[in-house]
Amino acid sequence: MNISVTFLLAVFLTVNADFINPEEVHLSWTENPGEIRITWATKLPSKSYATFRPLLCDSVVNPSVWNQSRSNDTKFIYGSPEKYNHQFIHTATISNLNPNCFYEYYVGCNWVVSEKFVFSGRTPVLSSTANDAQAFKALIFGNWGYGISGQYTSYLMSRESQIRDFDAVFHLGNIAYSLDSHNGETGDDFFSMIQPIASSYPYMTIPGTQEDLANYTQYHMRFLMPKNNDNKGTGFFYSLNIGPVHFAMINSELYFNKTPASLALEQTNWLRSDLTSANQQRTARPWIVILMHRPLYCASNLSLTRHTICGSEATVLKESLEEIIYDNSVDLVISAHLNGYERSAAIYKGEVLKGANSTANYYTDPAAPVYIVSGAAGNSEGLDPLYQSVSVPETTEFVGSTYGYGRIYAYNTTHLYWEQYNAANLTQVDYLWISKSQARY
Ligand SMILES: *[C@@H]1O[C@H](CO)[C@@H](O)[C@H](O)[C@H]1NC(C)=O
Ligand SMILES: *[C@@H]1O[C@H](CO)[C@@H](O)[C@H](O)[C@H]1NC(C)=O
Ligand SMILES: *[C@@H]1O[C@H](CO)[C@@H](O)[C@H](O)[C@H]1NC(C)=O
Ligand SMILES: *[C@@H]1O[C@H](CO)[C@@H](O)[C@H](O)[C@H]1NC(C)=O
Ligand SMILES: *[C@@H]1O[C@H](CO)[C@@H](O)[C@H](O)[C@H]1NC(C)=O
Ligand SMILES: *[C@@H]1O[C@H](CO)[C@@H](O)[C@H](O)[C@H]1NC(C)=O
Ligand SMILES: *[C@@H]1O[C@H](CO)[C@@H](O)[C@H](O)[C@H]1NC(C)=O
Repeated sequence: MNISVTFLLAVFLTVNADFINPEEVHLSWTENPGEIRITWATKLPSKSYATFRPLLCDSVVNPSVWNQSRSNDTKFIYGSPEKYNHQFIHTATISNLNPNCFYEYYVGCNWVVSEKFVFSGRTPVLSSTANDAQAFKALIFGNWGYGISGQYTSYLMSRESQIRDFDAVFHLGNIAYSLDSHNGETGDDFFSMIQPIASSYPYMTIPGTQEDLANYTQYHMRFLMPKNNDNKGTGFFYSLNIGPVHFAMINSELYFNKTPASLALEQTNWLRSDLTSANQQRTARPWIVILMHRPLYCASNLSLTRHTICGSEATVLKESLEEIIYDNSVDLVISAHLNGYERSAAIYKGEVLKGANSTANYYTDPAAPVYIVSGAAGNSEGLDPLYQSVSVPETTEFVGSTYGYGRIYAYNTTHLYWEQYNAANLTQVDYLWISKSQARY
């Protein structure tokens, strides 16, 4: 090959590498135990793989052996008639993960690959007998968007992701502001922003008010959540057992808007039976946490356009869900929707049931769920001006308004810890310990 041909080939490869460069790499747990799904995007089609190997295992596994999983590559056209964009979404699944291993991986085609990332082989268990007694830690928040206000959160979370002191991330709807904005380019920017975190931890989601734009097209293509018969393959609602916690993830949007009532009823019935079976395993896994976008309880009195959040909208959800939640002794319900942070006391129908000897930040055997709103991760709407009325009601334990996100640490079967962090100046906003001596109240 003469020099000019080599040179031209090099130029060709450099230019084209941009179009097949794997971007927006993110992970999620699947409907199967011991499995993780890797999703990424390229601008042009390319026959792609996830290449992986176990690392840092307890047991002896030869770390030099790389294995490959071919991705499913789907052309995705998005945007609007004014400007259509397209890209290729690649999803590869890695199965039979060993919970005692970390895995190193990269994605791409034969010519261009991503940098290497690492994830943990620990995944949720589905069977009723399996029991993973280790502590479980996760970051939880909603209403996180691309843009200036989201940057503090992005910075802190990327730093935290290097320390590996948590197992997963839960984003409770309202993603990117929005995935569809600017003909879908905001969605692309958001996925690039979260790559440092989402490439290393399962990034689990549920829909919020923004995800149903264009019939959930972006949401479904980008976030592949556990699919099963109950959710008819939509991944809209699902549950996970991990460590001492059962998480039920539900789509609050089904109770509103244009959605047919039958869909809400389907989800409500699923939740009831899901919580019933979770209660049968309550000795091994005593904590039950529900995650959803809109809150049942909040106190903030917002502007005229948003004042229904803690009013009529919350009432709709209370009517549909509060009794099921209480009857099944759910410990915590965490939502977003407000651009702010609030924590209720342990309450049922507005009555405070924190438990004897409880203080504002330490509940001993509470007899009702605690409702938390953690929607302050930062987005183009800024923060809601919180609580403008004269006094915070007795049912509200804390109201705060700073950019940040929450962490849940389920240490063991008796102690669960929650904290909200201020991402701008690295301080703690609020915290709560729940300790309990019995699995159910
Ligand atoms: C590949 O992805 C498309 C679109 O999400 C889906 O319809 C198809 O079932 C997938 N195929 C496999 C083998 O997973
Ligand atoms: C390689 O990965 C594939 C896909 O996840 C899996 O089915 C297979 O068992 C793996 N092989 C080895 C030797 O780990
Ligand atoms: C929205 O998507 C669902 C399937 O996900 C489909 O049944 C329905 O017809 C779609 N609605 C519109 C208005 O496109
Ligand atoms: C509350 O504290 C008192 C005094 O320390 C103690 O006697 C009582 O047993 C405690 N009650 C509960 C439910 O822990
Ligand atoms: C909430 O704000 C509205 C308008 O600013 C006011 O009329 C109303 O009294 C407030 N409600 C409470 C409970 O503070
Ligand atoms: C559970 O975790 C808490 C907090 O780390 C700790 O204080 C307590 O001793 C633990 N209990 C058991 C039985 O390990
Ligand atoms: C952090 O910010 C919050 C509110 O933005 C403020 O109340 C607090 O004093 C700050 N703390 C420090 C240590 O700067």
